Amino acid sequence: MKILVTGGLGFIGSHTVVELQKEGYQVVIIDNLSNSSLDVLEGIVSITGIKPIFEQLDLKDKTKVQTFFKKHQDLQGVIHFAASKAVGESVNKPLLYYENNINTLVYVLQELEKLEIANFIFSSSCTVYGQADTMPISEDAPIQKAQSPYGNTKQIGEEIIQDTCKITPQLQAIALRYFNPIGAHESVKIGELPIGVPQNLVPFITQTAAGIREQLSVFGNDYRTPDGTCIRDYIHVVDIAKAHVIALQRLLDKKNETDFEIFNLGTGTGSSVLEVIQAFERVSGEKLNYKIVDRRAGDVVSAYADTTKANQILGWKAKYNLEDAMLSAWKWQQQL
Ligand code: UD1
Repeated sequence: MKILVTGGLGFIGSHTVVELQKEGYQVVIIDNLSNSSLDVLEGIVSITGIKPIFEQLDLKDKTKVQTFFKKHQDLQGVIHFAASKAVGESVNKPLLYYENNINTLVYVLQELEKLEIANFIFSSSCTVYGQADTMPISEDAPIQKAQSPYGNTKQIGEEIIQDTCKITPQLQAIALRYFNPIGAHESVKIGELPIGVPQNLVPFITQTAAGIREQLSVFGNDYRTPDGTCIRDYIHVVDIAKAHVIALQRLLDKKNETDFEIFNLGTGTGSSVLEVIQAFERVSGEKLNYKIVDRRAGDVVSAYADTTKANQILGWKAKYNLEDAMLSAWKWQQQL
């Protein structure tokens, strides 16, 4: 079965391509290489021994998107990762984010409307919950006003898909709301490749330990949490990747209960920034240079997932814990 993975050379996309290939799917990747590189394709091939079809294409080019779908009319499913994801950048460049994340989604859905079979998996985010009132966060927690254009694109994206499903009988979709994906493939042939100074915690930690960054700034220790630092649900990227394959299989088997389903992808365990640092120090044997600084604007205090729905309905559960993920992130950094 032929599956399209947009953004298939990105962090989560590349790990998902590997899991799809392991399950016997034929994968077609679209990527514009804006935040990835062809080396990732080599990494995928060296893990699985299978070269996916690759088309360097920018989904903002509507004509090229149409031509692509005409050429690949036998697609059985689409997993749509391609998007921009830096929260801070989105505040400074909102239109870039709306164009990259919304226009491209619309163009892909317009092509799916023309197909007889249209199974669609969408990368969403826990950011849609904002600061939820109760922990852990379940899928029916209210959506809060987005804190950033990036977050808004995930909320609007879900709405666009839901609206399209209502009038497109063949369109069956699942949105997966990721908590904080971290880590790397055990082969250390693919992993996270932040461009420039990492904005996310884990690559900043590993780069600091590797001597690329001088010191990690911990953004605030006066939050109302046990140690004062923010709490998140850090989940191994391979667990996230496997969930995509399971979600896709659910649509292919026509086991979905409604034409638009939503699942949280997290471990269900919240970890503070200091706990992440401690986990890193334990698995790496390195002492991390860090200091406490002011809070970062826009950070929520706490966010971790209620995974009951994904566990029971999807039949998926995260296998790796924080230490596994930190160790894989460290090995990947050392390899880089
Ligand atoms: C954010 C987004 C999430 C998005 C993800 C991907 C929100 C609420 N969350 O996650 O939707 O998918 O980015 O880019 O918009 N920290 C430090 N020092 C650092 C970096 C981070 O202390 O140098 C702390 C942060 O304050 C936070 C935690 O580490 O408490 C995790 O931060 P980060 O890795 O940036 O992820 P989120 O902000 O949770």
